Amino acid sequence: MSDKYAVIGNPVEHSLSPAIHAEFARATGQDITYGKIFAPRDGFRESVLRFRDEGGKGLNVTLPFKQEAWQLAESHSGQAREAGAVNTLKFENGTIAGHNTDGVGLTRDLKENLNCPVRGQRVLVMGAGGASYGVMEPLLRELPQQLVVANRTLDKAVALVARFEALQKFAALGVSARPYPALAGARFDIVVNATSAGLADVMPPLPRDIFAPGALAYEMVYGRRTLFMDFAAGCGATAADGLGMLVEQAAESFFIWRGVRPQTAPVIRALRRKAEG
Ligand code: ATR
Repeated sequence: MSDKYAVIGNPVEHSLSPAIHAEFARATGQDITYGKIFAPRDGFRESVLRFRDEGGKGLNVTLPFKQEAWQLAESHSGQAREAGAVNTLKFENGTIAGHNTDGVGLTRDLKENLNCPVRGQRVLVMGAGGASYGVMEPLLRELPQQLVVANRTLDKAVALVARFEALQKFAALGVSARPYPALAGARFDIVVNATSAGLADVMPPLPRDIFAPGALAYEMVYGRRTLFMDFAAGCGATAADGLGMLVEQAAESFFIWRGVRPQTAPVIRALRRKAEG
């Protein structure tokens, strides 16, 4: 019998994860199935335990359950602990292990697919919600020259920065929280949109001169062009969507489950071709 995996969320019907994992399994010769589970808002725990009790080996967790998955997990990887959220569950030896592969997905996409190393760069992260928590530690690990978190509600950015400053190993780096108006005059090499504004098609109030020459604007949303991407392109920056991050986080989950690292570039290319129709 094939080992069973799935993505669980609400909504989940448009998830690309089943197609991505099916392709990884084909390319690496792994014998798995990968489905989709729609869980009611108040039924995450029951849905996970049922899947496990029916022989499931692991789950990817998507919105809105990443914090609940953290609570359900009985052990946590370093990245899950630091993010306070779990996107990958592994059922093994009767326990539930929680991992977070989102942040590594971003840094791999930046470094390996977009040829945009973070080391020594000035990085701006917009937003201070769950998506930002997930990417902070992996970004800091790359040793940017500066990492600024901008948020509409300053208190949330201050709390986020304080949490990561507490990781003493990064104390030497310039990490700070700012409201958007305080970005005036600053320049960044990498600007990451981790707000939910991409989904709502609202543009965070960024100054037009925020992008340094040759800057990359990274939108975590995928599958469509957002106002942020248009804005960045209009300011002369290169704009990228989050499709590569999606595939890279999936590859990391696949590695955690199967111990095999699939190639990502052909999968990203194929999905992009399909999206462009
Ligand atoms: P998630 O966990 O998916 O990141 P969240 O916790 O609701 O979702 O966080 C959404 C982020 O997008 C927040 O940083 C939010 O800013 P506030 O903390 O000020 O609410 C940000 N956001 C949402 N809509 C926005 C908008 N129109 N302009 C700027 N920031 C926005």
